[in-house]
Amino acid sequence: MTYQDYEEARDVAMKQIGGAEIAVVLGSGLGDYAEEFEDVREIKYRDIPHFPVSTAPGHSGKLISGTKAGKRVLIMSGRMHMYEGIPLEQIAFPIRVLKLMGVKNLILTNAAGGVNASFRPGDLMLITDYINLTGRSPLTGPNEALFGPRFPDMSQAFSKELRQAALESAQEMNLEIRQGVYCWMSGPCYETPAEIRMIRLLGADAVGMSTVPDVMAAVHASIKTLGISCITNMAAGMLDQPITHQEVLEVGKKVQSSFRGLLDRVIEKL
Ligand code: HPA
Repeated sequence: MTYQDYEEARDVAMKQIGGAEIAVVLGSGLGDYAEEFEDVREIKYRDIPHFPVSTAPGHSGKLISGTKAGKRVLIMSGRMHMYEGIPLEQIAFPIRVLKLMGVKNLILTNAAGGVNASFRPGDLMLITDYINLTGRSPLTGPNEALFGPRFPDMSQAFSKELRQAALESAQEMNLEIRQGVYCWMSGPCYETPAEIRMIRLLGADAVGMSTVPDVMAAVHASIKTLGISCITNMAAGMLDQPITHQEVLEVGKKVQSSFRGLLDRVIEKL
């Protein structure tokens, strides 16, 4: 990828849907959040030059702009995962294009397995920090200094200020919200019970297959990031039942209205 590739993508996307200072990446099951927005414009990922295309079920593959509470927001409906075989550099590509489209605040959402035994399926968790057990990074390779430094500081990967806004939003709604550490695993297999015991010992509260490469690219490009997980299932071995993608999507659907309400309020505060 060259800087020019990012600029080409920006030019095409901006021409069709315009820019914004806020962006939201929708995780599994949240794909239709954009339905509630006004003055919606959209472009398919495949119509944006160099843009990777998502193949995971529940991820539609459109970049949408719309207005909510008087604010213009860009929405990525459909994200790309490492397990799809998409090179990590390409996974960071959309985040960098968002940066060039004017984004200053990014909200990353995902479906995740609950590792903390006090969590329940349907809980929402503000991500306070992450553990990267894949050993991989989308920033591997020559540094693109026009976006950011070679060695980005990750001591506040998820913005304290945005987390505060999310906590206040939850409080206003009387919505109980969890907080915790998200562990990035490469998938596509769900984890083994032994892996889950290990990551609990390491300090993780939730586990999933996304979000961390996105936040790495965002922080590198000085975008403030908020991460919210929907705990769709208890992680492997915690209950005497298998984990299915069906269950992940169903629980995602069930909490959709509180999840959307929370996103709406956070967007209002930005
Ligand atoms: N593990 C990994 N990713 C997930 C899970 C899980 O249990 N649930 C939803 N995404």
